[in-house]
Amino acid sequence: MSETNTAASAVMPTYSRFPISITKGEGSYVWDDAGKQYLDYTAGIATCNLGHAPAAVKEAVKEQLDTLWHCSNLYHIPIQEQLAELLTAHTFADQVFFGNSGAEANEAAIKLARSYAQKVKGTTGYEVVTFSQSFHGRTLATLAATGQEKIQKNFAPLAKGFRYLPYNDVEALEELIGPDTCGVLMELVQGEGGVIPADPAWVKEVERLCKEHDVLFMLDEVQTGAGRTGTLYAYEQYGVEPDVLTTAKGLASGIPIGAMLASSKAAAAFEAGSHGSTFGGNPVAAAAGKATLEVITNPVFLMEVQEIADYFRGELEAIAAKSSGFTDVRGKGLLLGLGTTGKAIELVHRARELGLLVLVAGEHVLRILPPLNTTKAEADFCIGTLKQIASA
Ligand SMILES: Cc1ncc(COP(=O)(O)O)c(C=O)c1O
Repeated sequence: MSETNTAASAVMPTYSRFPISITKGEGSYVWDDAGKQYLDYTAGIATCNLGHAPAAVKEAVKEQLDTLWHCSNLYHIPIQEQLAELLTAHTFADQVFFGNSGAEANEAAIKLARSYAQKVKGTTGYEVVTFSQSFHGRTLATLAATGQEKIQKNFAPLAKGFRYLPYNDVEALEELIGPDTCGVLMELVQGEGGVIPADPAWVKEVERLCKEHDVLFMLDEVQTGAGRTGTLYAYEQYGVEPDVLTTAKGLASGIPIGAMLASSKAAAAFEAGSHGSTFGGNPVAAAAGKATLEVITNPVFLMEVQEIADYFRGELEAIAAKSSGFTDVRGKGLLLGLGTTGKAIELVHRARELGLLVLVAGEHVLRILPPLNTTKAEADFCIGTLKQIASA
């Protein structure tokens, strides 16, 4: 499994890599260096949401490369403004801060929540509440925000100012807001933590308590965003309105980007000099983001995502019902998990040999992340392969 993690590699072995080298990607498929084709139902871990090298995004990036690659955020950048306008037009948000990754977007959110308490409210509030089995990134602050010990191991002392509560536990919400709490940060489907959707009533209660105590209600939609769950952002399906939302991964179809969206109330906590990022909102990334969003915000596109997601989920449920190797189907839209009785990683290896790439989320969950524009024939290939590996 970690064949590329050898001393011969000049790349640090921070990833346990599968023993194939990917050299080409187009649509829903990737190819390895031996020319073998795979149906990529990992989508770069929910990043290549329109498949590999989608034409509209490729054209926009090429055009941007002919125009302007980079300029400092000390100047106005029209393409960045246009992406921010698209994001605010299609969400609750009034303003956007751009970075380059999910972790960076969450760092911005954590800073904004502290500044909201300290600058806007004039308190000493600093604590951000997160949840068990959450995942918010690998930087020092975001790993401290992450409610998983395995991510935090060997990095003591952890950054101060985080408190964890059990996920989906209404009774524990009695402890949600403490005297120093400035924000709550949560995923609506825990992706890395096992593909676990949040209970709508619980989310509503978190929102209510945040609003009652005037602490920022912040959603980490790094994995659930950019159409992944069948709406542009998952919060639309929960009937809640966050103060802050973080997005990255699928936002620019695989060109690095991250963004923190905020209501004007929350955004008031930042001013010139509060935060920055050299590459944040870079013109090439912004062009890719704009072209991506123009596709994803089309209601017909989203309707088709929901249709294929319903079909695929139905087929997965049929497998789970029939096969003793699978237990249940969980998730939302095309962020799906298939519970396994055996070790999920072994099934991932077998699927790969048969030309299908899928992931794990924990020991007993296969995580399946098709591109949003996948076809019924591709979904059927995945189903056929899963049936084959289940009966092997
Ligand atoms: C919910 C969530 N938040 C944050 C991150 C971190 O994003 P990045 O790897 O772009 O820093 C991830 C990555 O998997 C994620 O799933």
